[in-house]
Amino acid sequence: MTASPSADSTRRTPAGDSGRADLRERAFTALTAARARTALLTDAVSDRDLTAQHSPLMSPLVWDLAHIGNQEELWLLRNVAGHDSLHPEIDPLYDAFQHPRAERPKLPLLGPAEARRYAAEVRGRVFDLLERTALEGSALLDDGFAFGMIAQHEQQHDETMLITHQLRPGEPVLTAPDPGPPQGPPPAAAEVLVPGGPFTMGTSAEPWSLDNERPAHDRDTGAFWIDTVPVTNSAYQAFVADGGYRDERWWAPEGWDQIHRHGIEAPLFWRREAGQWLRRRFGVTEPVPADEPVLHVSWYEADAYARWAGRRLPTEAEWEKAARHDPATGRSTRYPWGDEDPTPAHANLGQRHLRPAPAGSYPAGASPLGVRQLIGDVWEWTSSDFLPYPGFRAFPYREYSEVFFGPEHKVLRGGSFAVDPVACRGTFRNWDLPVRRQIFSGFRTARDA
Ligand SMILES: [Fe+2]
Repeated sequence: MTASPSADSTRRTPAGDSGRADLRERAFTALTAARARTALLTDAVSDRDLTAQHSPLMSPLVWDLAHIGNQEELWLLRNVAGHDSLHPEIDPLYDAFQHPRAERPKLPLLGPAEARRYAAEVRGRVFDLLERTALEGSALLDDGFAFGMIAQHEQQHDETMLITHQLRPGEPVLTAPDPGPPQGPPPAAAEVLVPGGPFTMGTSAEPWSLDNERPAHDRDTGAFWIDTVPVTNSAYQAFVADGGYRDERWWAPEGWDQIHRHGIEAPLFWRREAGQWLRRRFGVTEPVPADEPVLHVSWYEADAYARWAGRRLPTEAEWEKAARHDPATGRSTRYPWGDEDPTPAHANLGQRHLRPAPAGSYPAGASPLGVRQLIGDVWEWTSSDFLPYPGFRAFPYREYSEVFFGPEHKVLRGGSFAVDPVACRGTFRNWDLPVRRQIFSGFRTARDA
């Protein structure tokens, strides 16, 4: 069986008027959904809360709000439509590369009302543009890419703002229904054998995929076993109870340093009380649920657990092969379940719930080999550094991905409950520093066959 870039499932929009109307509708829906979520996250707190910095790791929420509008203005109104800057004096304030998060609260930022007005002003003009522009003729416009990129950007900031909510002290302000127990049959086995051989990694066909997901290319892996579900809190508690945080054998040297420097002995937001592990989740303190995927662990913690368990983290290629490769056809699909866009039956996405679903949920979202919850629930750390694919081309700007390539960043895959479907695909790549644990990160383990 061979895999080739042509085995990458295509999803081109048909050309012609009906195709362009579909694209317009898709872009309009994606932008509208992102703004509704932004409003939910920023209307939930007071103006004082919006302008406060709840953690030096995060921006004040009001910075994210105006930055969302500013990036939309930059890419859609200035680059695509050729307009001048609406408010040139504020542009430098919202350039993420000019001001690190820690210094943003000291900037003369727009206040909450001004930031909302600015984002709405930009959005009104963007909808006018979307109605009249031909969605073709340039790399930014083809398939409505720039509109899709901006909808993804806003949703990614919504995820960042949800992290700020998680770090924020005080009473809970967000609510959502719980996912409930798994529906359908439990997985047949704890791990799944993925056959060795080539498969198609990355994509050249997904219209709104970002530069680092491109191009589709052949990748070979050996045969490997991978966990059917993400590592659960109860499994992780066994590592903690076994003295995992006190045994240097399991830790990469920098990870060992980090847990000692910061006195870390459990995932972030956990605390031990009266012989029980509790966690704080969006302002609520509750017993750590045994059957949920573990959340808020660093790459070092994930790596140490895997060694303790006699296993390892999957490589990024192994993760994507487990998620996309259909051994029956040799094709790589868009998602583990096929090419269909995610529905609530497939995965826990889009902040529909404010927590991961229990391990074993979403049998309808399983891969052809039966691996579950690859998409949604928790971002999954892989063992791999964030590197370009062969043939990578920075687009539309170097700062999107290229400047982050290298050994400092580890790749996370699959999205979390906080990720919207528009920014989640079998090919989507996230990256972060291996010390990070405020993100919605978990993991699953693997071993050579
Ligand atoms: Fe941004």
